[in-house]
Amino acid sequence: MRSILFALLTTPALALAQDVPVPMRLTDDVHGVYDNDLLSPEFHRGRREALRAKLPVGGVAIFFASPVRNRSNDVDYEYHQDPNFYYLTGLREPEALLIVFKEPRMIAGETTDELLVVQDRDPQSEVWNGKSMGPAEAKELLGLKSAMGAMRFKNTELPWKAADAIFSHRVDDPADDPHSSTDLADLLKHMEVTAPAGKEGGPADIRRWMAELRELKTEEELVLMRKAIDITCEAQKELMRRLRPNMTEYQTEAIVEYVFKTNGAEHEGFPSIQGGGPHSCVLHYITNRRTLADGDLLVSDIGAEYHGYTADVTRTLPANGRFTKDQRAIYDLVLAAQEAGIAEARAGMPFRAPHNAAWAVIVKGMKELGIIKEESELRRYFMHGTSHYLGLDVHDAGTYGDLKAGSVITVEPGIYIAKDSPCDPRWWGIGVRIEDDILITHGDPVNLSAGAPRKADEVEALMAR
Ligand code: GLY
Repeated sequence: MRSILFALLTTPALALAQDVPVPMRLTDDVHGVYDNDLLSPEFHRGRREALRAKLPVGGVAIFFASPVRNRSNDVDYEYHQDPNFYYLTGLREPEALLIVFKEPRMIAGETTDELLVVQDRDPQSEVWNGKSMGPAEAKELLGLKSAMGAMRFKNTELPWKAADAIFSHRVDDPADDPHSSTDLADLLKHMEVTAPAGKEGGPADIRRWMAELRELKTEEELVLMRKAIDITCEAQKELMRRLRPNMTEYQTEAIVEYVFKTNGAEHEGFPSIQGGGPHSCVLHYITNRRTLADGDLLVSDIGAEYHGYTADVTRTLPANGRFTKDQRAIYDLVLAAQEAGIAEARAGMPFRAPHNAAWAVIVKGMKELGIIKEESELRRYFMHGTSHYLGLDVHDAGTYGDLKAGSVITVEPGIYIAKDSPCDPRWWGIGVRIEDDILITHGDPVNLSAGAPRKADEVEALMAR
């Protein structure tokens, strides 16, 4: 292990982080679980209780794990749990389902108001894929009142007679593995066949309840969100320190994702956007193959995902370390718009208030710069909303009503002036987005991503170093 670490640190392309962080205390690996800062079983239990409180009398809610998706032939995409399922259970394994009952019911001789169904442990599969939990360990480790193996579940009668309304969370068609009779496709079929017709609750209800719950972050969630955001800010700073012309977009991607992984982030919350030069004007550019020219801007829109929670922080950087006068004019305008947007990010304000404030600043500034004459022209250059919720999803679940204390939103205005736009060509190719993650409180907004420099002078100063 030491020698691998040494090799990593002495390989020029990877010698990025001077201090690779020492992981937190390792727990035993009996269950393949090493992290000791995961969400607690009490958190997930609390979330199930909050959902149960929303269910009507006689209501039942059913959630399915995300399907495994095949990439090609023998290779699947890296598995990622359905955020609602993870939120309610903490389980990160596939081929599982959760049933939450409003009232306790008798299932297989046991009175319970919840049942987690997972795959039984399979020594053959564990040779290839490592340990899985199985029902007994899932029950113990995740703190479920009841858990059952999938085979037993298929032979167990469920208390459907007592159910008045069955709310089922949508699941995309899972692939049916011909070698398994208990995979997700089989569990889904089993539920369809056994659940009584005519008792379906509306799918919109379950979506709304989950949005209401997930919109408000608990302290425990905020600890993980802060961690994901801190890692992401560190990645942006590392990029500022290392960026130079002639680097490729994929090398800038490598810099930020190296920081993610060395700090324990399991995934990117979304594919890293590293748009240089003309690509700075492509909102969700992820090809990341171009070589950066001297004078290019780079839009770096990234988010580490830590224990399920993702950050989303954008910085726009001059490849050579200095903004040109025109780039700086657009940059400062976007920054002023962002400041105006953040100031509106307060409990009780309409969700759109930050966007309206940012929009007004950009309309005025773009007119002063002579890039537009009428407000109606701005849609060409600022074509997206300013905010979305952030959490388990980068565009997280939420109600989009008035802002509430405890939710986290992004504030991310941008201006994108693509080649051939109807303005002076000196502006062409300038794309700027600045994005921060804002915690709504009962007082002032809290910028959770303030750790990554944002003002043009601060960016240039860090790049000069
Ligand atoms: N930052 C990527 C997105 O908001 O979709």
